[in-house]
Amino acid sequence: MAGDGAGAAAGDGAGPVVSGGGRWVQRSEVPADARFFGLGGRAAGPRLRDGSYRLWNTDPQRGFDPGDDPLYLTMPVQFVVSDAGTHLAFHDNSWDGRVVLAEGEEGAGSGHDRPGTSEVRMTGGPLRCWVVVGTPARVLHGWAALTGAPALPPSWALGPQHARWGFGSAREVRRVVAGYRERGLPLSALHLDIDHYDGHRVFTVDRERFPDLPGLAEELREQGVRLVSIVDPAVKAEPGDPVYDGGAAVDAFVKDARGLEVRGVVWPGECAYPDFTDPAVREWWGGLYEERLRQGFAGVWHDMNEPVSFVPFGDPTLPRSARHALEGRGGDHREAHNVYGLAMARAGYEGLRRLRPDERPFLFSRSGWAGMQRYGGTWSGDVSTGWPGLRASLALVLGLGLCGVPYSGPDVGGFDGSPSPELFLRWYQLGAWLPFFRTHAAIDAGRREPWEFGPEVLEHVRVALAERERLRPYFTTLARLARMTGAPYVRPVWWGTPEDRALRDCEDAFLLGDSLLVAPVLTRGADRRAVRLPRGCWYDTATGRAHEGPGQVLLDAPLSRVPVLARAGAVLPVRGEGGELVLEVWAPAAGRTGGGLVVRDTGDGWEPASIERYQSRLADGRVVVERVTDDGVEEPGLPVVVRGL
Ligand code: NOJ
Repeated sequence: MAGDGAGAAAGDGAGPVVSGGGRWVQRSEVPADARFFGLGGRAAGPRLRDGSYRLWNTDPQRGFDPGDDPLYLTMPVQFVVSDAGTHLAFHDNSWDGRVVLAEGEEGAGSGHDRPGTSEVRMTGGPLRCWVVVGTPARVLHGWAALTGAPALPPSWALGPQHARWGFGSAREVRRVVAGYRERGLPLSALHLDIDHYDGHRVFTVDRERFPDLPGLAEELREQGVRLVSIVDPAVKAEPGDPVYDGGAAVDAFVKDARGLEVRGVVWPGECAYPDFTDPAVREWWGGLYEERLRQGFAGVWHDMNEPVSFVPFGDPTLPRSARHALEGRGGDHREAHNVYGLAMARAGYEGLRRLRPDERPFLFSRSGWAGMQRYGGTWSGDVSTGWPGLRASLALVLGLGLCGVPYSGPDVGGFDGSPSPELFLRWYQLGAWLPFFRTHAAIDAGRREPWEFGPEVLEHVRVALAERERLRPYFTTLARLARMTGAPYVRPVWWGTPEDRALRDCEDAFLLGDSLLVAPVLTRGADRRAVRLPRGCWYDTATGRAHEGPGQVLLDAPLSRVPVLARAGAVLPVRGEGGELVLEVWAPAAGRTGGGLVVRDTGDGWEPASIERYQSRLADGRVVVERVTDDGVEEPGLPVVVRGL
């Protein structure tokens, strides 16, 4: 791996160290000012400080906090930002390993900097490394070219969603959906967890509690609410169970070296595990989603796919010796473990495409690996309810975006326990700005319906929801741009100015696309917060006041809202009062121009979309907006609302 003038990771000259049993270590140096990001979903991020980060997808088996590592979704993908440049280093090796990071130190004027180091220590597998160098945008573009463009979620998946482990009956589902409707709160989808299964068995329905699921799905669909189904990989190991028998007939389940099925324990009891690293098994599994579609589900939620087997202590997964097809090469769980969720996502995605070719699949998965974006998104998993969990929620979304997975979000409100009304509200106000916006909680946790937290919270939730709905055309555009360019919707504040060192250390705010800077409230009792601005002029969208970056400003953050700033000159698509598409334009700063991209909603199918380009400028104190075409500029052809003048 060669270093170059742009600051790419360079070997330290000694080359990799190979030790016994296929283990190896590769040590790279980065500039003293470099900051590390990525490595999949890391609760302690987004900036990865000195430490050892394991590469082994792991269910923490309880609500996690920033100190918990690793989690469900690890990736040997490092995103490194320094004055000299930005690069992504991908070690294409799915074995167990760790990355040991040490930030460098600048020699306080002495000129002797201590470089940062990154040591990749793998327990086996090849040393196969890719380095992508460039601006952050170019790096992620290159990453998408290497590992695939992100799947485009169906339009409805950009709306508010609600889940709970414990929606135990059709009656309960109707009650909750009616709660949203009666209060005039928008709801795009409701998710059914394992409690709608018969005895927790995948691809079944408890017909006593859900006597007519297709009917219920249709009834909700008429109200604009889709049903999403959890899908767990483990199959109850019981001859006579149709899914088990079907799997056994095609030799689908993971075996040990003696050819005996490897059994684990998950929700239904003793289970067998499909070997998704076998193409024939993926095809069989994908076919099973036909049953989900027949039940009326519009999308799927993959869970427990690290994969998990409950154990009182030790590693809650399959034994290392379990055999896997690994696309025909053959191997064991040491190599297959980290790609199990990825391969399951592929099976589900390809199955849904075959079964319902006219609609884009909606799939998100707890576990995964590099390249999972081709099949769908992910979510936080069981983030613990507390202020640290709120902070971890943003860290995960930012870190995953830099690993090429743009569609994700947390369990809004946290998975366990009961958030205070203030914590719930602040989580909700963060979630409303993230791509996957879903409230969810455990069966023994307090409620998460927004009206359960009192009238004041409900009023503020209403505002967050209204803003989310107003910005749906912007989210639609960002989803398309993520697919076309690899750029995540949610970006670190240094995205456009990685040379700004202060921004590299800013972990409590983010850019939503090019136009907005969102500064969520992540601490208790705050009614103001400091916001670090990238260079340029930014408008506080609540007050219209302009602030000049780079620098830090103190902004009001009353319970009713979080600070959101718009870049001067930005042109962004929003929904007008009658549902029509409107261009919201923030006045360019004097002497400067601005612009924005718009991709229109084409529904839930495969219709291609084109990018519309708009530019803004000031002329005689007036804001002029034009559409840029191949032949020049023309009238925008859309209503324009000017702000910030
Ligand atoms: C673990 C998942 O992370 C959580 O979201 C889900 O509610 C439970 N499994 C039960 O299915």
